[in-house]
Amino acid sequence: MPDQRLQPGIFITGTDTNVGKTVVTAALGLALQQTGAKVGIMKPVETGTTPDNTDSDVRRLRNVFAPYRNVDVLNVSGFPEPVAPLEAARSARQVIDVDVILNACRERTVDRDYMLVEGIGGILVPLTETHDVRDLIGLLGLPCLIVGRTGLGSINHTRLTLMGLQEAGIPILGIVLNHMDITPKEQQASTVKLIRELSDVPVLGPLPFQPRMNSQWEDCIRTLANHSTIREVARMVQENN
Ligand SMILES: Nc1ncnc2c1ncn2[C@@H]1O[C@H](COP(=O)(O)OP(=O)(O)OP(=O)(O)O)[C@@H](O)[C@H]1O
Ligand SMILES: [Mg+2]
Repeated sequence: MPDQRLQPGIFITGTDTNVGKTVVTAALGLALQQTGAKVGIMKPVETGTTPDNTDSDVRRLRNVFAPYRNVDVLNVSGFPEPVAPLEAARSARQVIDVDVILNACRERTVDRDYMLVEGIGGILVPLTETHDVRDLIGLLGLPCLIVGRTGLGSINHTRLTLMGLQEAGIPILGIVLNHMDITPKEQQASTVKLIRELSDVPVLGPLPFQPRMNSQWEDCIRTLANHSTIREVARMVQENN
C-alpha cells in the first residue's frame, strides 16, 4: 500500500467503546472551530446505524456542527448491525475498504486546518480480516489521543491501550480522562492519580460529568468545549501541527 500519511490531524481512540470518544471529538472540534479554523471530522466506520437510531455518532456530530460552515462531518461506511465492524460488514454482505477510508481522509485534509478522526471502539477492533483500528491509525499516520474513563477498570484498559499503540510506534498526543459515570469520588481520584503516575504521556482531565448530556447534548458539548481540559487539548493539537 502506498504511503498515505496525512497531516494535520489527530485520531481520537479510546480504551473501549462508550468511553466518550464522540464527546471529546465534538468538544475539541468546537474548540478548534472557535479559533476560526476549518475542521474536518470523520467517523470512518459506524455500526448500529439504523434509521431509528437518533443518537448515532454521525448524527450527534452533525447536529452539533450544523450551525458552522467551517466544519463538516464525514462517514465512509455505516452498517445497521450494532456489532464489531468486521461482523457488521459481513452481515451486510460488504467489506470495509481501508483504501477508500484513507483516500477519503486524504481528500478532506487538503483544504482543512485540522482533521479529527474518531475511532471505532478500542484499538484492536477488527475492521477487515487483515486490518484492525490500530492498523488504520498507522496507515493514516496520525498521532493519537486516547480517551479513557475514570472508573474502576480504566487503569488496566488505559495501560493496555498505551502499550498497544507504543508497540506499533504510533505517536500519542495524550490521554483524556472522562468522568462519565457515578463512580465514587475516591475511586475516581485514585484511578486518575495512578494513570498519571504510570503513563509516560500527558494525562489531561478529568472532563466533568454532565448529568444532562443525553437530553441536552449540544449544550453540554458547548460547555465541555470551554472546559480547561479541552482547551488544553486544542492547544496541544495546534502546537502539534
Ligand atoms: N462527561 C460526560 N458526562 C455525561 N455523559 C457522558 C460524558 N461523556 C460521555 N457521556 C455519555 O456516555 C455515552 C458514551 O459516550 P460517547 O458516545 O462519546 O462514547 P464513544 O467512546 O464515542 O462510544 P462509541 O464506541 O460507541 O463510539 C454517551 O451517551 C455520552 O453522552
Ligand atoms: Mg463514538
